[in-house]
Amino acid sequence: MSVKEMLDHIRTLPEQLEYCLQLDYNDAVVLPKKDIKNVVVAGMGGSAIGGDVMRCSLGQEMPVPVINNRDYHLPSFVGKDSLVFTVSYSGNTEETLSCFREGLQREAQMVAITSGGQLESLARESQVSLIKIPSGVPPRAALGYLFTPLALMVEQVGLVQGIRNQVEETIGILKEMREELLALDPPEANPAWKIALDIQDCIPVIWAGGSILEVAAMRWKGQINENAKAPAYFNCFPELNHNEFTGLEGPADITRRVAVIVLQDELQNPGIARRIKTTNDMLKDRIKGFNFVSSRGNSIMARLFSLMYAGDFTSVYLAQLYNIDPVPVDIIEELKKRLKN
Ligand code: F6R
Repeated sequence: MSVKEMLDHIRTLPEQLEYCLQLDYNDAVVLPKKDIKNVVVAGMGGSAIGGDVMRCSLGQEMPVPVINNRDYHLPSFVGKDSLVFTVSYSGNTEETLSCFREGLQREAQMVAITSGGQLESLARESQVSLIKIPSGVPPRAALGYLFTPLALMVEQVGLVQGIRNQVEETIGILKEMREELLALDPPEANPAWKIALDIQDCIPVIWAGGSILEVAAMRWKGQINENAKAPAYFNCFPELNHNEFTGLEGPADITRRVAVIVLQDELQNPGIARRIKTTNDMLKDRIKGFNFVSSRGNSIMARLFSLMYAGDFTSVYLAQLYNIDPVPVDIIEELKKRLKN
């Protein structure tokens, strides 16, 4: 049982951000800002989510669109004036390798982020900018390595400013939080353990308080799936008020097993806070219940990481409650093996 091993990985998240601040990004060959028309991040699973963190945290201030691409092909608009990041922790993910080849063919400005594998070899052969990150961590526990270079490189080409300060703020908040999230004496005082206990034997549904928080809800869901090997779903206010929440009016046998976790951020539109409160009032007697997690920090980057960090710990404590080893993802490995045959 390696709950401890996964906790050891996730406790290093702030150090991963620190490590990436020290890397040298000067060799990266990319167009200056005026020539970049769009930014695309191609990757899958744990390697893709850094791109979502970039879109949610920096997308609003960037003068060009940021697209997260989880597929074999790049969008048709990708060409010479696109900045394309291909991100694969192992370097062997077929969808990401396919996007890498396609981006090269279209002469896009390419950057590869990986710990090795075929992506490293291809990047070296084709003299594409390569950010090599440390190996030996499950991809989903390497978010610091997979996100920070993206943010620093879009700053380097001039698309955003002030990234180092935001990363430093994030590091401080994560270090503060991990003390609380690791403390288990008594366990009931630990907010992540408390949520894990509350959602045990239920279907967790994570709702982001505003679409800017989408990545945090997506991360909670993915971490619960992969660490606790349990189903989980996510959505965002206000959209969910136009469809998903009507499903919770349904058969009580099902809805009573739904445990909603709302990720909130006080800097969101006040309309969102009203919706969260009203939705809670309308549904609380129909479902298992609501848990609320609030963001911390000033920058949206720090606030997103604070929400995601609480989810990382909750997912591992849920694995512990289910007596599940959070580290291996055998079913993913088995699928990859079968697809190769
Ligand atoms: C997360 C995980 C998967 C992988 C995904 C892509 O820990 O195991 O979500 O991230 O299968 O593989 P990589 O990240 O190697 O490109």
